[in-house]
Amino acid sequence: MKLKNVGLAEKKRIRLQKELDSKKTQLERNMLGQFATPPNLAQEIVNYIFEKKLFDKQMIRFLDPAVGTGSFFSALIKNFPEGKIESAIGIEIDRDFAKVADELWASYGLEVINSDFTHLNPPKDERELANLILTNPPYVRHHHIEKKEKMKLQRKIKSKIGYSINGLSGLYCYFLLLSHSWLKKEGYGIWLIPSEFMDVNYGTIIKKYLTEKVTLIHIHRFEPDDVQFADALVSSSIVIFQKKKPEKNGMATFSYGGNLLHPKISQLIPIGALKHSQKWTHIPNNTTFLDIDIEHETPRLGDFFKIQRGIATGANKFFIMQRTKAKSLGIPEKFLKPILPSPRNLKVEKIESDGWGNPILDDSLIVIDCELPENVVKKDYKQFYQYLKAGKESGITERYLLKKRFPWYKQEHRESPPFLCTYMGRNNNKNKPFRIIWNKSEAISTNVYLLMYPKDALAEMLNDNPELEQAVFEALKQIKTKDIMDNGRVYGGGLHKIEPKELGRLPANELVEILKQYDYQLPTQQKISSWV
Ligand SMILES: C[S@@+](CC[C@H](N)C(=O)[O-])C[C@H]1O[C@@H](n2cnc3c(N)ncnc32)[C@H](O)[C@@H]1O
Repeated sequence: MKLKNVGLAEKKRIRLQKELDSKKTQLERNMLGQFATPPNLAQEIVNYIFEKKLFDKQMIRFLDPAVGTGSFFSALIKNFPEGKIESAIGIEIDRDFAKVADELWASYGLEVINSDFTHLNPPKDERELANLILTNPPYVRHHHIEKKEKMKLQRKIKSKIGYSINGLSGLYCYFLLLSHSWLKKEGYGIWLIPSEFMDVNYGTIIKKYLTEKVTLIHIHRFEPDDVQFADALVSSSIVIFQKKKPEKNGMATFSYGGNLLHPKISQLIPIGALKHSQKWTHIPNNTTFLDIDIEHETPRLGDFFKIQRGIATGANKFFIMQRTKAKSLGIPEKFLKPILPSPRNLKVEKIESDGWGNPILDDSLIVIDCELPENVVKKDYKQFYQYLKAGKESGITERYLLKKRFPWYKQEHRESPPFLCTYMGRNNNKNKPFRIIWNKSEAISTNVYLLMYPKDALAEMLNDNPELEQAVFEALKQIKTKDIMDNGRVYGGGLHKIEPKELGRLPANELVEILKQYDYQLPTQQKISSWV
């Protein structure tokens, strides 16, 4: 049974919160970090707890060390049935806020302690600790914290968890590290904090904490222009972790935009890679900087393949067409390169070749690629020149990529790849988001595919024994779609994408297994066996 009249109490809370806020100056609010969580955001976080079933098998012992008027407690009791909350404590330094929280929520089971959280010590008995710390701590900047106070807190943190905290840290960093000893083993910490810790120097210790002392589960970053706390002028993140040692190959979700349960984009990131990464706010929008050599114990696809996106023509409609059309336009054969159709129009997984290297497919597409200067084309290839002229008149040469190229109809260089992986797709009943293609032709592709070129030992093996391509293809096909999806990123609406470095990070166990069956005496054989 849900608790009665929570809605009425919440309405009253919002009204009283506004009244209290309006009585304070901006400076007073900054000094105590008094920027309340918008009710819908508190609700969103509680929905996450509910949806992810974090407390399906246990009662909740709640603690908010900066409870304010109790926005999180209110959202919690609205969602969870009566009797699910075993204990609830809210700590608040400001007498007025503490009084409101007490009046509103004491009868629902919240014990309000009017005190400075940083001066308190947790209960000694592990059983009395909280298993859910859900909070929006004060975002008080370091220059508002007195020097003496700072030093005292630094010593306290050093003695509690052995970390030295940087003097430029905001109060929320002290809150986060001090709360470690208030959280029960395997309990959850859910923190709404400024995103800046992910990039600035003083945040290094927080990142260390999140990758060493606890198991990071999820970091959701709001878009900076969707400022959750308009008056606090910071962009915020929700950080979710569990108090237990991180697993060796653990992964954490990083998401961005939209909301916590339905982000615009999200990606699983190996904790090992996070440890070595200076900045976290690029994630998940750009993870190509995460080095594949990190925690590199198992062989990865990147050890066997050089992986690149296909070409970006900048104007596919102009440069790519049926071979027959190119012929009818009088474009000479030497300026035509075979190119694969988009994955949507490619029905096979193995592309055979005709005697000239053209793919044997329903669509016989080419891309225009020529490096001769325009005046030479004009003089020697009149019909081709007419086509280029028409393109120019249509305005395509004003496009970004074309402006950067010289001449504008010369494409990036790519060899034809023996293997490709589709770059993006949706996961539904009909389709897999990613497919591996075996290309026996000379065709290249556009950037809707990743091109996989065997390198080192594998390149040598295939060179000497082309029949091995079949086995490599079979091995690549065994890579689980879920593994590719987990290493790529997903966009709101369910579109999955994988970048070359992300594909390169995938374990290549299937490939190693297959290669093991072939006893080739290669100089690099040693290297492969040492991985196995
Ligand atoms: C960002 S507000 C969050 C309030 C509330 N939890 C919410 O989400 O709406 C931070 C709260 O922490 C309180 N606070 C600031 N310093 C504190 C301290 N040292 N100990 C306890 N509470 C503190 C402020 O008065 C303020 O109410």
